[in-house]
Amino acid sequence: MGELAFANGVFGPISEAKVSIEDRGFQFGDGIYEVIVAYSGRLFLLERHMQRLRRSAAGIALNYDFDGRPLEPIIIDGLRRTELGDALIYIQLTRGAAPRSHVIPAGLTPTVVMTFKPLLPLPEALRARGAKVITTLDTRWANCYIKATTLLPNVLAKNDALRRGYDDVIFVTADGEVRECTAANIFLVKGGHLHIPPRNESILHGVTQGFLIECAEAIGVGMKEEPIPAESLRRADEVFMSGTAAEVLAITSIDDRAVGDGCVGPITQRLYDEFLRRTRSR
Ligand SMILES: Cc1ncc(COP(=O)(O)O)c(C=O)c1O
Repeated sequence: MGELAFANGVFGPISEAKVSIEDRGFQFGDGIYEVIVAYSGRLFLLERHMQRLRRSAAGIALNYDFDGRPLEPIIIDGLRRTELGDALIYIQLTRGAAPRSHVIPAGLTPTVVMTFKPLLPLPEALRARGAKVITTLDTRWANCYIKATTLLPNVLAKNDALRRGYDDVIFVTADGEVRECTAANIFLVKGGHLHIPPRNESILHGVTQGFLIECAEAIGVGMKEEPIPAESLRRADEVFMSGTAAEVLAITSIDDRAVGDGCVGPITQRLYDEFLRRTRSR
């Protein structure tokens, strides 16, 4: 069947799905979301995504009855209806529709919207050469652990990078600390060890990141979670990004300097191989 939407409690073509122009998601970006993949018709780490969605809802005090009106059966049903093997599922919850006001009215019914689309793999050429990125000031809000739909700084930074001939950015704070990419977490490799920034409120706690940490343990690669100064990017042997869409993507150039020897590094490759082994054989 291919692409499908879920809106206002019903499935239908994406072109026919509608929400109110007074929806707070539309007017204020007052909503949260998740992006989940399915490989060969099986949802990948659904539970972890749903846990994060609950955390995001709690983070913006969005009252959705996750136990009474569970989203999992809708997601499973939607995937089944599309008959897609490898699929990308977008789930968005907003606070609901109401006359525009900063004040949140009591008793709003959250809007639930989903889309189901074929999962398009990243271009092989990009995988082979690795991403070329630039560092940029992190101008986002302090609660990036919440997967909020309010993504304007990410959107602008990504498009600025593309316009200048790069693939993405690495957000760095005014104090020079590495955070993450526009839609992916970041890992450094130094001396055979992985390094990630602290999983505090300032970055999204990636489901892929968590899964890769388990993969790394399994193949005997250690990990340190500590603040990463931007200068470390220059000294890293390898750098890669992780995310539901990117999976494991090498970063081979940062601010026009090659990372390591400028090729996809051996630990990045081993981790990606392990990731593929686990996801494609499930
Ligand atoms: C800012 C940001 N960081 C990290 C990630 C990676 O998270 P996940 O691995 O759960 O897809 C995403 C995914 O969209 C993101 O938007």
